Amino acid sequence: MRPLGFAGDVAVRARGLAKRYDGIVALDGVDFDVRTGQCFGFLGPNGAGKTTTMKMIYGLAAVQDGTLEVLGRDISRERRAVKARLGVVPQEDNLDRELTVRENLLVQAGYFGIGSEEAERRVAELLEFSLLAGRSDAMVRQLSGGMRRRLLIARALVNEPELVVLDEPTTGLDPQARQTLWHTLDRLRDQGVTLLLTTHYMEEAARLCDRLVILDLGRIVAEGSPDELIARYGQPHLEAVFLHLTGHELDR
Ligand SMILES: Nc1ncnc2c1ncn2[C@@H]1O[C@H](COP(=O)(O)OP(=O)(O)OP(=O)(O)O)[C@@H](O)[C@H]1O
Ligand SMILES: [Mg+2]
Repeated sequence: MRPLGFAGDVAVRARGLAKRYDGIVALDGVDFDVRTGQCFGFLGPNGAGKTTTMKMIYGLAAVQDGTLEVLGRDISRERRAVKARLGVVPQEDNLDRELTVRENLLVQAGYFGIGSEEAERRVAELLEFSLLAGRSDAMVRQLSGGMRRRLLIARALVNEPELVVLDEPTTGLDPQARQTLWHTLDRLRDQGVTLLLTTHYMEEAARLCDRLVILDLGRIVAEGSPDELIARYGQPHLEAVFLHLTGHELDR
């Protein structure tokens, strides 16, 4: 296990976290703690506030009200220091389409100040892991949607992050690629990496998450482990809990 850069056992702590966009409430005062080394899920219908929460955690959206500590630091004041220790898989692909697969990874390594020899080593490893070694010299615009998503995930791991934030990482992946990603996430968690995940796939949340919150209209309507939630609401599986609490059919 890689030594962690801080001693705390809480990787993310949110208190009264709130955000409005032009009068629209995206997040309405949420509290949660993510323990170091856990896989923590954010579930909820479209517009519930999942991406807003993720963006605040990785420093893309400003915290409006409340407090948010990430890896022991106040993200509003120490954004740069925190960002170096995070990996981010955004919901929308922001790869550089006019660069090759390999170049996208090398640029990211450069962004984190990783020396060229070490960068080459990591990039070769990530190309293998993302099953893109055979396409390393292809331009990103030539990749399929699922391949781009795999590259996006590989890119998030270039700096060997302590905390990885994944916003709908498996949307659009074929079943085999999804399984591969699940195994990768298992491996990262075994190494002590904390994972934050949003998903619309309840079987994925049940399979991966140690704990999760269900958000609806910017509020947390339930929190617990998948099994606790199933037992608490007397439902046969997590999908039924979700429907029971949000009244939404799942969007796929
Ligand atoms: N940049 C923005 N400008 C204006 N409104 C925004 C912006 N980003 C998010 N919102 C609004 O905030 C609310 C929460 O959006 P958010 O993207 O966090 O939802 P989500 O739970 O990630 O949904 P999805 O499952 O569709 O990805 C929505 O009402 C959305 O329209
Ligand atoms: Mg979203």
